[in-house]
Amino acid sequence: MTPSGLLDTQLTRHAGIEVPLICGAMYPCSNPELVAAVSDAGGIGIVQPISLTYVHGHEFREGLRLIRRLTGKPIGMNALIEASSKRYHERMVQWVNVALEEGVRFFVTSLGNPRWVCQAVHAAGGKVYHDVTERKWALKGRDSGADGLIAVNRRAGGHAGPKSAEELIGELGDLDLPMVCAGGIGVETEFVAALRLGYAGAQLGTRFIATTECRASAVYKQAILDAGEEDIVLSERITGVPVAVINTPYIQRMGLRAGPLARWMLRGHRTKHWMRMIYGLKSIWQLKRSSLDETGSKDYWQAGKSVAGIDRIDSAGEIVRRFRAACLASSTQSG
Ligand SMILES: Cc1cc2nc3c(=O)[nH]c(=O)nc-3n(C[C@H](O)[C@H](O)[C@H](O)COP(=O)(O)O)c2cc1C
Repeated sequence: MTPSGLLDTQLTRHAGIEVPLICGAMYPCSNPELVAAVSDAGGIGIVQPISLTYVHGHEFREGLRLIRRLTGKPIGMNALIEASSKRYHERMVQWVNVALEEGVRFFVTSLGNPRWVCQAVHAAGGKVYHDVTERKWALKGRDSGADGLIAVNRRAGGHAGPKSAEELIGELGDLDLPMVCAGGIGVETEFVAALRLGYAGAQLGTRFIATTECRASAVYKQAILDAGEEDIVLSERITGVPVAVINTPYIQRMGLRAGPLARWMLRGHRTKHWMRMIYGLKSIWQLKRSSLDETGSKDYWQAGKSVAGIDRIDSAGEIVRRFRAACLASSTQSG
């Protein structure tokens, strides 16, 4: 293998980056400084539009320009294409268009059908990677024109999937699309292992919360450092579908399952969109409050099982450089 072997992948070529490492979109933890720091060090930071505007208080275009002033390197944008509200959809179309006007060429879509995003982004010469947790969503993404898949496994922070990283590679490997491993990567060895499994890159969330650039509260970051794998539980109470959170006293008081009415509504074809919207609005506010609250009284913190390997707060750039160095060392050893 050449020295750059593990670093030269379809993801690095598609996104125009040096290290196949994505700082995934995180509501409410993606702030402009974090996105910029990851991109500037050679990976790619993904903008989460609701986090940029509602949590961190930037008008969308101005927020993108702020990131641009911090780095000239490529950045990406997350388009959550949930179909529950017409108004939300129109806002998302607007955000994608503004991002394209501001030079963003890499998009990560989640939920729903990414076809309209693919059409708009491809017309501008960009690439779209679609978040998937199993084969049926991967087929939908491929048939809608996605250029790559982000395979979200069961160790991920945020909406975790039901499968392991190994199962996902086995299940989606024949689709002929580059695959990015999302979930459970906190340290360099796990990154190198994912690339060696055949992934074209990795998308990390939790690791990048415990950084100097992330604006999440100090108590939230400390909880990530203190938590072990067994402290991560899946709660349905945030968005109606399981979300990985740290098992704090607050989470224990709330319980992990959705109530009976919510469960019934989530099963219905029509009512599920309503229920998701209600959950969405409630959780958007609660997650914002708890991520910024320095008292830690509302400890409602999303994180994945990668907490196990995270034991200090680093700068985001340092993490990208360490991961890059591990790839180079590993490529040289096997070269
Ligand atoms: C706090 C938090 C918020 C997240 N919010 C989003 C989001 O808004 N959109 C999205 O597509 N993924 C979201 N994710 C998923 C991440 O982008 C990424 O795929 C995931 O964190 C990878 O797993 P890891 O946390 O084990 O590294 C979130 C993850 C976390 C930890």
